[in-house]
Amino acid sequence: MIFRPLRRAMLACGALAVFASPLASHAADPVKIGLIAPFSGSFADYGKQMEGGIKAWQKLHGDTVAGRKIQIIMKDTTGPVPDVAKRLAQELVVRDKVDILAGFGLTPEALAVAPIAEQAKKPMVIFNAASSVITTKSNYIARVSMTLPQISAPMATWAVRNNIRKVVTLVADYAPGIDAETAFKTNFLGGGGQIVESIRVPLRNPEFAPFIQRIKDARPEAVFLFLPAGEQGVAFMKGFRERGLSEAGIRVIATGDLTDDHVLPAMGDATLGVITSFHYSAAHDSKENKAFLKAFAEANPGAGRPNFMAVAAFDGMGAIYEALKKTNGVTDGDKFLAALKGMKLQSPRGGITIDSATRDVIQTVYIRKVEKINGELYNVEFDKFEGVKDSGK
Ligand code: PHB
Repeated sequence: MIFRPLRRAMLACGALAVFASPLASHAADPVKIGLIAPFSGSFADYGKQMEGGIKAWQKLHGDTVAGRKIQIIMKDTTGPVPDVAKRLAQELVVRDKVDILAGFGLTPEALAVAPIAEQAKKPMVIFNAASSVITTKSNYIARVSMTLPQISAPMATWAVRNNIRKVVTLVADYAPGIDAETAFKTNFLGGGGQIVESIRVPLRNPEFAPFIQRIKDARPEAVFLFLPAGEQGVAFMKGFRERGLSEAGIRVIATGDLTDDHVLPAMGDATLGVITSFHYSAAHDSKENKAFLKAFAEANPGAGRPNFMAVAAFDGMGAIYEALKKTNGVTDGDKFLAALKGMKLQSPRGGITIDSATRDVIQTVYIRKVEKINGELYNVEFDKFEGVKDSGK
């Protein structure tokens, strides 16, 4: 028989231990982030840029926040394959018990995963996918990248102001392309411009030659373009050069996906003078961008220049760390989203805010021109529109 006061003390300790253990293990548990993006196939760069941006963030800010280690679980969609993205998200939530879903290079994949975030009440942080509608699909989605209407409307306004009156639009035929076309058209027509032809090309493996000929035949002053970052821009510019469109006096105005910093150095001098609107340029002159470029190079030897997806992943991690600090390491969907809403961050692109009403990013959109700096091609910013919100919803 145990002496009663001792027994009471032991019981008290036992009770304490029961209460203390979940707290103790909670503090020691890592925060698991499931990163869903293409890491192979023709969009493989999207995943690699995001991974590079995360590494750059952790190089500068470590891998622990609010007492919890950050664990990244990377999943390759081989994209764009919405069904695979959905299955991977399900596995991450059910089997790996992730706290946060992140990444999403392509709109169809983000849209496929949105219902899972909604059902599981998991924060879903978008590092790229940019059609306007995505953030309306779940209250647990926040976006740190951009939207196509946000980027395309300023391009139209700039074009009108700079006496471009007659344009052909060419976009990839899926949600972000339709968003870009609509926003450009609305603002360009509203400013007195004329759209002589609107061309939509398949998302996968477009054969540009016939479309480029159509542009040439329509004799516009400029072609407005949205193509997802990567190989397609290279293919388009090659055809543009080979068929002599600039000699025919046709200018290129585009969203900055076309002259994405990662591929620009290899695109060649045909891109000189191309005007784009975008939220990030590697040539952006700020101390935050210098620190980012240095950290990216150190954390990703041989990876080349980071692009806007690396920056969005860097900022996405910044947003996640900041939210975890505010919630003291709690990842509950509602508390986490409350912490993200209205958040302001100093990004390598300039200051950004997560709109408390829409959970979309508010930012400066820059107008840039491809120029050479020390013999290398860059998107040089020369005009800007400040505090731009998504105008697509
Ligand atoms: C998208 O699918 O939302 C997307 C992909 C690539 C871009 C922009 C948007 O460059």
